[in-house]
Amino acid sequence: MSLRRFFEEHPDRRYIMFGGKGGLGKTTFSAATAYWLARQGHRVLVFSVDPQASLSDIFQRDIFGRGPVEIIPNLYAQEIDADQRIRAFQDEIREKIKSMYGLDECPEEIERYMQAAAGEPAMEESAIFDAVVDIVVSAEYDYYIYDLVPLGHALYYLSMGSIYDEWINKITRLREEMAEYAQVAAIMQRSRQTEEDQILLELQDIKRRINTSSSILTDRQKTGFFFVIIPEEMAILDTIKAASLFAKYDVPLCGYIVNRVIPASLADQAIPEYLRHRLEMQRGHLERIRREFGSDVLAEIPEFERDITGLPMIERMAEAMFGA
Ligand SMILES: Nc1ncnc2c1ncn2[C@@H]1O[C@H](COP(=O)(O)OP(=O)(O)OP(=O)(O)O)[C@@H](O)[C@H]1O
Ligand SMILES: [Mg+2]
Repeated sequence: MSLRRFFEEHPDRRYIMFGGKGGLGKTTFSAATAYWLARQGHRVLVFSVDPQASLSDIFQRDIFGRGPVEIIPNLYAQEIDADQRIRAFQDEIREKIKSMYGLDECPEEIERYMQAAAGEPAMEESAIFDAVVDIVVSAEYDYYIYDLVPLGHALYYLSMGSIYDEWINKITRLREEMAEYAQVAAIMQRSRQTEEDQILLELQDIKRRINTSSSILTDRQKTGFFFVIIPEEMAILDTIKAASLFAKYDVPLCGYIVNRVIPASLADQAIPEYLRHRLEMQRGHLERIRREFGSDVLAEIPEFERDITGLPMIERMAEAMFGA
């Protein structure tokens, strides 16, 4: 089995994710896969949900918060700006409150509440999640490549059920806090009916959106999730643990990609003792990986002589992953 064959044999798997510990090559593989698929003639979006996104670095383009940016024909990259998203969300609430209660200005107390809420980490995560939902339900691309955050955090995005709860709690809390403001409460008495209808509609909308995106994420027909691993003890142990956790969330695990493999052919050359030791160490770990994950190992990618940034390096990486 190879990565290329995987994509050839599963043309319906159009939501692609690379997961793994920090710094092992998720962004690199996301970008190279997106590049390869685009060169095959597919319309591809690679997008990042990471506040410390590095698609800008790898493509050497400033794409943060600019929506989908065309990198080469058919290849688009997007980095979500959570703050921008939160501001848009606040504007929306402000407008809703004004129109609901027929006010010219949003009450000062509510302004203050929204400022405080914007600082909550959960708010940022909700904003990013919301942006992701917008992207995946848009159906504008043949392929969606998720440049994921490191493992633990990625699980958060995958556990849609708990995010849904969080949303409901947040909205309930907002309602309760609003009720505390005497001024607003007085108006609410009069417009209780409309308000409850509004909230219900909002909840139904949220629920529908979350169901759509979470059903995509766990859809074995549509989604492919790959683990990135390197030939090192800790990485292997963590991956074994993570894989069983991901299986619990019904994430459609499709295989493993081993990154940063020192070319074995170096052993035939006159190389420093240091490098020989590292080669020997990797050989042991590679055997363990093959034993542990067997035919689920879809590719072994060499360690390049430099970082993977810029299109020529991305192209070399794509060749290493998918063949020339
Ligand atoms: N095979 C390779 N050869 C050389 N450098 C590599 C290779 N794979 C990745 N790199 C480099 O390693 C660094 C980390 O890779 P990358 O950013 O893709 O990891 P990540 O898993 O996305 O990290 P994070 O968890 O922080 O998002 C980058 O500088 C990248 O260019
Ligand atoms: Mg990354």
